[in-house]
Amino acid sequence: MSLKQVICGFTTLVLILSNSFMLEAQLQVGFYASSCSLAEFIVKQEVRNALSRDRGLAAGLVRMHFHDCFIRGCDGSVLIDSTPSNTAEKDSRPANNPSLRGFEVIDSAKDRLEAICKGVVSCADILAFAARDSVEITGGFGYDVPAGRRDGRISLASEVLANLPPPTFNVNQLTQNFANKGFTQDEMVTLSGAHTIGRSHCGSFNNRLYSFNSTTSQDPSLDPIYAAQLKQQCPQGSPNSNILVPMDPSSPTTTDVGYYRNIIANRGLFTSDQTLLTNTATATQVIQNAQNPFIWRSKFAAAMVKMGRIGTGNAGEIRENCRMINKEEVEIHGDILEAILLYVSLIDLVPASNVSKSWCSIVASSLRHLKKPKPWLIIHKQANCSPYATTTHTYDPCSNQWIKISQPSIKFISALKSSQSNVLYMLSSSKFSFSFDSLNSTWFNVDPPLVWRMDPIVACVGDSVVVASGVCQFEEPLHHWLRNHQ
Ligand SMILES: *[C@@H]1O[C@H](CO)[C@@H](O)[C@H](O)[C@H]1NC(C)=O
Ligand SMILES: *[C@@H]1O[C@H](CO)[C@@H](O)[C@H](O)[C@H]1NC(C)=O
Ligand SMILES: *[C@@H]1O[C@H](CO)[C@@H](O)[C@H](O)[C@H]1NC(C)=O
Repeated sequence: MSLKQVICGFTTLVLILSNSFMLEAQLQVGFYASSCSLAEFIVKQEVRNALSRDRGLAAGLVRMHFHDCFIRGCDGSVLIDSTPSNTAEKDSRPANNPSLRGFEVIDSAKDRLEAICKGVVSCADILAFAARDSVEITGGFGYDVPAGRRDGRISLASEVLANLPPPTFNVNQLTQNFANKGFTQDEMVTLSGAHTIGRSHCGSFNNRLYSFNSTTSQDPSLDPIYAAQLKQQCPQGSPNSNILVPMDPSSPTTTDVGYYRNIIANRGLFTSDQTLLTNTATATQVIQNAQNPFIWRSKFAAAMVKMGRIGTGNAGEIRENCRMINKEEVEIHGDILEAILLYVSLIDLVPASNVSKSWCSIVASSLRHLKKPKPWLIIHKQANCSPYATTTHTYDPCSNQWIKISQPSIKFISALKSSQSNVLYMLSSSKFSFSFDSLNSTWFNVDPPLVWRMDPIVACVGDSVVVASGVCQFEEPLHHWLRNHQ
């Protein structure tokens, strides 16, 4: 089998793998029943633990799911951290940064799930489950979450503002924004009810208190008593941008219809809340929701399920770490790598890998799983006149370079040697020097073997360096153990 055959065999394997992704089914309830039966249970446990410490995280998780689904679909893209070359969705200001929270809840659920079923449960699904659990734990209706989402590999801060409705939107803008994602106006009003829990930074509604328009400073649609309270909580020009106010002050951590009752009382916090009363159809929905908590809870659960389907498909991956896309390079280990190494010697592997960029990165990543290749060719040069100085160079197959080795000083010259192991040594009758990292001039010097040997085999066995065999002057035990090099 030639290298070419090995490469072709490997390419075929990659194609088979990617075909199997195409066969994936659409989202389904109980998706992990056989592949990771504890998945939903573990997410719920983590959400419950987190909410017992900070009930406000429920709003954070519902909002995070919403912000995930509205940008590139529910693909966990909101969870990805920025990198030096990419500002991710979560760092888009002011929509996500600094207000999005609950990432650590997703991380801890993911850690536990990776420990019991590695590479099975997507981050996007964990987030969808966590949002459902947050709704349920805070008093909304629980609902079945169809799962099988796959995690996306792209997260761009620049896509956030164009997709998320800002708190300043009016009812027409909101209706259009939700219609773009496939929602009816009624569903938009239903989902707006998520503002029944959670808190807001002052910046999201300050304009309604201090700079409504050029002639009127305070939004006339805002209840003046409520406006006065808000002004106390959010003083004009306050340097403290960390102030948070509850969006539904009457029951800030309960998923109920308090949100709609507030709007009817002109106490909707955002322009985008109060505006629902300015349109006949949406005002009717607001009033019906306020009067029928049971119906709103059911409609909300159904709308959350619908939201959770946005943009889901077969593309994507199961992220290992919710904050990072998986490494793109295909890593080969075990059998495949062994098979390759059987036919291609290590010294040929790096130059031979130069057939294509992707093959090169496969070899490079595989070599990281092996022990660093050791120098295997050593050349000595000796000056032909006094003091007959010697120099030694070793070939480094990684860099394709000859590297000078600084040898230990040793009486009675013995050339630097290696006996097909990872140990380099110099031996004289007065000293035995060996090194595991000769390129860094790390040498150990010990007493020489009791019996002088010519060209012994020097090898590392466990923690010991063994000097054995070779031509010796006396019949003596075959080997001599030197002190542990550590
Ligand atoms: C400011 O808002 C008030 C109340 O809605 C309105 O009557 C007035 O016309 C607005 N002024 C301008 C300049 O838009
Ligand atoms: C790989 O190929 C490129 C271009 O042909 C060459 O410049 C480079 O030195 C090669 N690298 C190795 C390790 O052979
Ligand atoms: C030498 O040691 C340094 C620091 O430990 C390490 O970064 C470097 O890779 C080593 N060089 C070689 C050739 O092993």
